Amino acid sequence: MSEWDTLRFEVTDGVATITVDRPDKLNALNVATLEALRSAIAEAEAADARALVLTGAGDTAFIAGADISYMKDLGTPEAQAYAELGHDVARSLETFPAPSVAAVNGYAFGGGCELALACDLRVAAENAVFGQTEIDLGIVPGWGGTQRLPRLVNDEVARRLILFGERIDATDAHEYGLVGEVVAHDQLDARIDDLTADLAAQPRFALAAAKEAINQSYETGLAAGLEYEQRVFSGLFGTHDQREGMDAFVEKRDPEFE
Ligand code: COA
Repeated sequence: MSEWDTLRFEVTDGVATITVDRPDKLNALNVATLEALRSAIAEAEAADARALVLTGAGDTAFIAGADISYMKDLGTPEAQAYAELGHDVARSLETFPAPSVAAVNGYAFGGGCELALACDLRVAAENAVFGQTEIDLGIVPGWGGTQRLPRLVNDEVARRLILFGERIDATDAHEYGLVGEVVAHDQLDARIDDLTADLAAQPRFALAAAKEAINQSYETGLAAGLEYEQRVFSGLFGTHDQREGMDAFVEKRDPEFE
C-alpha cells in the first residue's frame, strides 16, 4: 500500500477510507494531494473495496476547496490541466465500482463540495458548511459543480449557490437535498461505519450494476436508459448472488452474498 504526505488511506473489513490530511490548509487540494487522491482511489479499486469513504482530517474541514495559493497565478493552459485533474478524481469517485460516500466533517467549499457531489451518498456532520464559492474568486466551479449540483438539488437552489457563492449549513444542505443525512459531529464516524457495513454486506455485483444504471440515467435519453437497465438486470441472472438471494427468500432464511 502506498503512502502519501497529505493523504491517509486504509482498508478495513472491505471498506476503503481516504482522509485528505492537510489540516493546516483546511485540506485544500493542491496538485500533489489531488494526484495522491487519484492513486488512492485506484488502490481502493485494486483492493476490491466494497465501499469507499472520502473525508478530511481534523475537526473543522472536509475539503476547503482547490488550492487558491496554487491557482492564483495560473494561465489558461495550466488551469485547464488542473481542471482535468480535478474532473478525473471526481469521475473516479462517480464511477468507482462500489458506492462512494462523502463523510463531510466541516467546510466543503468549491472543489471540496464538488468531490462530495461526485460521491454516491453524502453524510454531513452538524458543523459542515457547503458552498460553491468560486464566484467570490472571480471564477466558476471547475470540477463538475455546474453540472452535478443542478442534478442533485433543484435548479433555483443550484443557481443561487453558484451565482452568489452562498455558504449553507448542514441543515439547509439537507433541506435542499444536497446531503442525505445530518448527524452530530461526534457521531459521524459511527454512522459512516454502520452505513458502509450495510453497503459491504449487499450483493456486490448487483450494487455495482445499480450504481452504473443510475449513473447512466444522466448520460442517455430515457429509451436508451431503459434498454440499458434491461441488460444490467438480465445480466445478473445466473450469478451466485442472484441465485442465493432468491433461494434464501424461498427457503425463508437470510442470504449469504459473495
Ligand atoms: N486554498 C488554499 N489555502 C486555503 C484554502 C484554499 N481553498 N482554504 C483555506 N486555506 C488556508 C488558509 O490560507 C490558511 O492558511 P495560512 O494559515 O497559511 O494562512 C489556512 O488554510 C486556514 O484558513 P483560514 O482562512 O485562516 O481559516 P478560517 O477559519 O479563518 O476560515 C474558511 C476558514 C474555510 C472560511 C476560509 O479559509 C475560506 O474561505 N477558504 C477558502 C474557501 C474557498 O473559497 N474555496 C473554494 C476554492 S475554489
